[in-house]
Amino acid sequence: MNTCEIANEGLKNALATALPGVLVILGASGDLTKRLLIPALYNLACDGLLPESFAVIGMARRELDTLGFREQQRQDIAQFHTRRSFEKEPWEWLESRLHYIPGDFSDPEAYTRLRNLVLEVGENSVATGGGTASGNTLLYLAISPEFFETVNNLLDAAGFTNLTGNKRIIVEKPFGKDLASAVTLNRSLLSHWREDEIYRIDHYLGKETVQNLMAFRLANGMFAPLWSAAHIDHIQISATETVGVETRGEYYDKTGVVRDMLQNHLLQMLAFVCMESPESLDPAVVREEKSRLLRSVRLLGFSEAEQDCVRGQYGTGQRGDGLTASGSGKTLGYREEPRVDPLSNTPTYAAFKLHIDNDRWAGMPVYLRSGKSLWKRGTEIVVQFKPQPGGNPEPNLLFFHIQPFQGVEIRILAKRPGPAFLLQRAGMRFDYAETFEATRGTGYEVLLYSALNGDPTLFSRTDFVEDSWRIVQPVLDLWKQTPADNFPNYVAGSWGPLSAHALLARDGRRWHECINRDVLVRSEVFATAPAVLLNNLALAFQPLAVEAGTVIVERGERKSDLYVICRGEVEAIGASGKQLAVIKEGECFGEMAMLYDQPRSATIRSLSPCDLLVLNAADFRRIIEDFPEAEVEFRQIAERRRTTLSP
Ligand code: BG6
Repeated sequence: MNTCEIANEGLKNALATALPGVLVILGASGDLTKRLLIPALYNLACDGLLPESFAVIGMARRELDTLGFREQQRQDIAQFHTRRSFEKEPWEWLESRLHYIPGDFSDPEAYTRLRNLVLEVGENSVATGGGTASGNTLLYLAISPEFFETVNNLLDAAGFTNLTGNKRIIVEKPFGKDLASAVTLNRSLLSHWREDEIYRIDHYLGKETVQNLMAFRLANGMFAPLWSAAHIDHIQISATETVGVETRGEYYDKTGVVRDMLQNHLLQMLAFVCMESPESLDPAVVREEKSRLLRSVRLLGFSEAEQDCVRGQYGTGQRGDGLTASGSGKTLGYREEPRVDPLSNTPTYAAFKLHIDNDRWAGMPVYLRSGKSLWKRGTEIVVQFKPQPGGNPEPNLLFFHIQPFQGVEIRILAKRPGPAFLLQRAGMRFDYAETFEATRGTGYEVLLYSALNGDPTLFSRTDFVEDSWRIVQPVLDLWKQTPADNFPNYVAGSWGPLSAHALLARDGRRWHECINRDVLVRSEVFATAPAVLLNNLALAFQPLAVEAGTVIVERGERKSDLYVICRGEVEAIGASGKQLAVIKEGECFGEMAMLYDQPRSATIRSLSPCDLLVLNAADFRRIIEDFPEAEVEFRQIAERRRTTLSP
């Protein structure tokens, strides 16, 4: 099947209701059920995608009966549903299909009772027309992984593996804590269930924008000839968060960012972006291509891991989005977080450089990074194309905005309106919110719908999970053997450790930070600027991270870039060597030289590690020309600041 045929198939596909069955949630009193699973089922019910013959049975330790469970879920759905407005009828439909049975996960009797209830619900349903005559059973393990083995043994002993109809089991992350434990867990699961009955979930695959990676590649043939190292310089996959570990210190301190994000979510995205185009949309074919890709990722030896992987841990700072409970924006360092070891060596930030050893990608690096307590929340994949030989060195970029902004964007150079042939960076954007009216979901709708239908495309096979552990294992081993001696090494709310910038700088590259209007308006200078101006400026700014004590601008030099301080402090030093002023976060410097094309009147040196945005003077002049009023205001601000800085 070629990409056109795949696209045609995708365009024809209309959704039918899922196949009949009973969904059993083990661990039904937890957060996952109320926040994600029930709201997702409710969304499916609202969209008419659940079959008449459908029921949910929850089991957990908590002593509750079915009516109590329904009451609890009714209260929770009011808070956690994601519809624009609550629709009563589909909720009542779903609520009448909810059942509950209390049970301890280590008690064999509980599973016998559960099995009887599954059969009873199935039979009732035949009589009432609201049940599961098919006998299909989907078991959801919404429980801590330490119970997986016991629960599987007891499910098997109670006869769940011999039920008539289709039986499937969904297993939540974390799937093991390293390669060895993942292999053991797989062996244990496979001793009870067939491979095609095991559905290992990664919630990133429930995201529309992640699924769209495959759609984008397969259905848009124009990119196919460009999709290789011959045309692509490198790929960056970033998932940054503004939150710290919050209440999950105990879990996180044993886990760290590599196990929490890279081994699963980031490698899943890597597989979608870099796999060979599957011959068809058949789940087996798609999963094989994803696995083949992971098998081609070069395994790092210790010395490569040392050189190509960097780690970080956040210290105290300011939360990137300023949203803290106290309102002060101040956040704790990782080692001060509740239930975290005060001497913890757990990384909260990691950046890896990987290579894929196959014909398509030979020689092209892929950079992955993820971290907590960073300057902004955003998951983005950036594909940087090679410049044309002898052509403009400005690279074309393709952005997959996974979240919170959802879309796809191509950065190009465009001619500026006017008589002269002048170019300016511009973005061609597909924005999900503007294109689709779809209601916001939880991300679990497609996963539950697929599992009910027995479609494993979005779930991980045994080999995929093990290969993903194989990729990160050398780094986990190295970091365990060589504890970091510089933790914490980044300030909360910053862009992460400087070593992550150095990793790319060594290759003559830099991270593409997705700078948008929201970032610029944090600075006083841009707070009142018009939106179109800010959008254009955002495309032109480049990030720069410097260590404390770096001379950023030298007095007298004729370079005229403008700098915005996102984090940190710098000092302005006059001719006599005297400090003229301290310039802080949110402020800018260099505007006088830029506006008036003068030599620099002061030296600027960083007093702390700084994250800066740099605007090239030529870009600024081109952009501001169209906004004369904003330019006047900008000059006024600059003059006011000059007075403050004067000796
Ligand atoms: C989870 C991790 O798997 O993914 C969390 O355990 C992380 O630490 C979360 O915050 C991120 O998910 P999302 O969907 O918010 O990007």
